[in-house]
Amino acid sequence: MKNITYINNKFVNHNNAKVSIEDRGFLFADSIYELISVFNKEIIDEKQHFNRLESSLKKIKINYDFNKKKFKKIINKLIKTNNVVNGYIYIQITRGVAERSHEFPKKYKPTTIIFTKHLNINKKLYKTGVKIISIPDLRWLRRDIKTTSLLPNVLSKQLAIEKNAFESWLIDNGYITEGAASNAWIINNSKTILTHPATNKILKGVTRDTVIKLLKKSGFVIKEKPFNLIEAKNAKEAFLTSSTMSVLPVVKIDNFNISNGKPGDITKKIMQLYKNYILKNKFSSKELKIA
Ligand code: PDD
Repeated sequence: MKNITYINNKFVNHNNAKVSIEDRGFLFADSIYELISVFNKEIIDEKQHFNRLESSLKKIKINYDFNKKKFKKIINKLIKTNNVVNGYIYIQITRGVAERSHEFPKKYKPTTIIFTKHLNINKKLYKTGVKIISIPDLRWLRRDIKTTSLLPNVLSKQLAIEKNAFESWLIDNGYITEGAASNAWIINNSKTILTHPATNKILKGVTRDTVIKLLKKSGFVIKEKPFNLIEAKNAKEAFLTSSTMSVLPVVKIDNFNISNGKPGDITKKIMQLYKNYILKNKFSSKELKIA
């Protein structure tokens, strides 16, 4: 199967896509990224991902001529050539190659890479729900930026895997902020849906925002309000969201069952709402298609 990757204005064989060891993305994680899911050959929430990419570039002051039309063209070509039906697009932009010195180089040419991945969703997880663990949030205070500086996230996720869990929920100042690679949600006993507000303490997930919109439209009570571990353990239901996992039920926190330890009815409704949204998105994104 063909696997081409975009790197700095060129399409090359994925295995031949290489960056310099002096790339600041490699040396300093001076770099941002975006991950956009592909469903039935169409990208989901393109506009929101492009907007976040642009905002991340601005927040870390990478001077970049971000041309959405050009990106859309590249992505379409990659999806077509690599025959991505279900999977994702990974985009990374770094401050480029320069002699190692912490401050920004006076002149630089950002490095851009875009590659695709096929993804086989493990359907069983959505039926059984997943277990998560809670651990301290050791990250910096600009978690709103989608930077590739992900070591605390990597270590947190690894700890979850070592404990036979799917994800870690991170605790900062007594409150759960989000997961190592996803946003965290609970539904309390008065059926209010809670997720952390979009401050500097979390990444404002695109899936999170879409789910909030869908919930509001469907008349659910949703509050962007922090919740703690006790509230999470005593919740009626819980779930997580991300571009790769969509809406995934959480049924256990630190070996403590949430309700009866099975995906709840409201979560199932939310999963369905999101699924319907993705199916509709297929048609709306076709209308928007450029080139
Ligand atoms: N991660 N919070 C963190 C820390 C994340 O890394 C992610 C996504 C999210 C959810 O964001 P979105 O809904 O836009 O995917 C929240 C991606 C999938 C990753 O790094 O692989």
